[in-house]
Amino acid sequence: MQETTTSKQMSNPTTAAAALRVFFHDCMVDGCDASVLVASTSLSKAERDSDLNEALAGDAFDVVTRAKNALELACPGVVSCADILAVATRNLVKYVGGPFFKVRLGRKDGRESVASHVEINLPRANASMDQMIDMFTSKGLTVEELVALTGGGHTIGFTHCKEFSNRIFNFSSTSEVDPSLNPKFADRLRQMCANYHKNPAIAAFNDPLSPGTFDNLFFKNLLNGMGLLASDQIFGGGPKNEAVGGAICKEPDGVLRDICSRHGED
Ligand code: HEM
Repeated sequence: MQETTTSKQMSNPTTAAAALRVFFHDCMVDGCDASVLVASTSLSKAERDSDLNEALAGDAFDVVTRAKNALELACPGVVSCADILAVATRNLVKYVGGPFFKVRLGRKDGRESVASHVEINLPRANASMDQMIDMFTSKGLTVEELVALTGGGHTIGFTHCKEFSNRIFNFSSTSEVDPSLNPKFADRLRQMCANYHKNPAIAAFNDPLSPGTFDNLFFKNLLNGMGLLASDQIFGGGPKNEAVGGAICKEPDGVLRDICSRHGED
């Protein structure tokens, strides 16, 4: 596993973010059972082909395929794709600066993969705090875990312009740009995304200050109005989110404490 993930990440540095997002999208929909990897058939449309999963990056699928091929040669029929995805993601997150943690093994691969289960289990970039909380708490996760996991996820990787274009073009009748965005950051995004209709592949870094490193700058960015997605910037505070701020503030340490004091100010 180690050899496969390291060589893949070295040749394609976008792999870590790709795998982390695929792992998140797998786990939220009917558990961490690799059902996101299953292909559609003529009779059923699989998770992978749902609208929300259409931009999942190919590198993630490729790293699992490579590891599965190597493991099947060494010990056929033993290691599930679900375990491979979990371990590959852990290795890749560690590679880009994240923590090492032990992955408990023994996941079974799901036999069912249903596209319509995706939309009800995964939030979109315009999700409200309540929607995100509902989706996470329904899986037994806390509000603090929602914030910490999303901050961990969005400290690496990319987002295509269409996911935040409503924040930088024609935002409202009184403001061209979402006022919760840092003005300089918004200007940069407007330039970068000027042609996104013609070229939908244009994408911005989720964490503009340290795009390839797993660190806590995502949270600091939020405090400076540099959350790329509307759903991210919600975690940075605002009058509407006082109740949420209260919940997040139960975690008293580090950067979350900055978010709490920001909530206090608003
Ligand atoms: C909770 C609310 C969340 C929302 C609304 C959300 C939404 C999104 C969106 C819209 C993108 C951009 C996709 C694209 O343009 O291709 C994205 C990217 C990403 N998300 Fe999330 N996400 C959330 C939470 C998470 C969590 C919990 C993780 C992982 C722990 C995560 C990991 C990632 C990663 C790594 C990327 C970059 C993927 C890449 O570069 O290939 N996200 N997310």
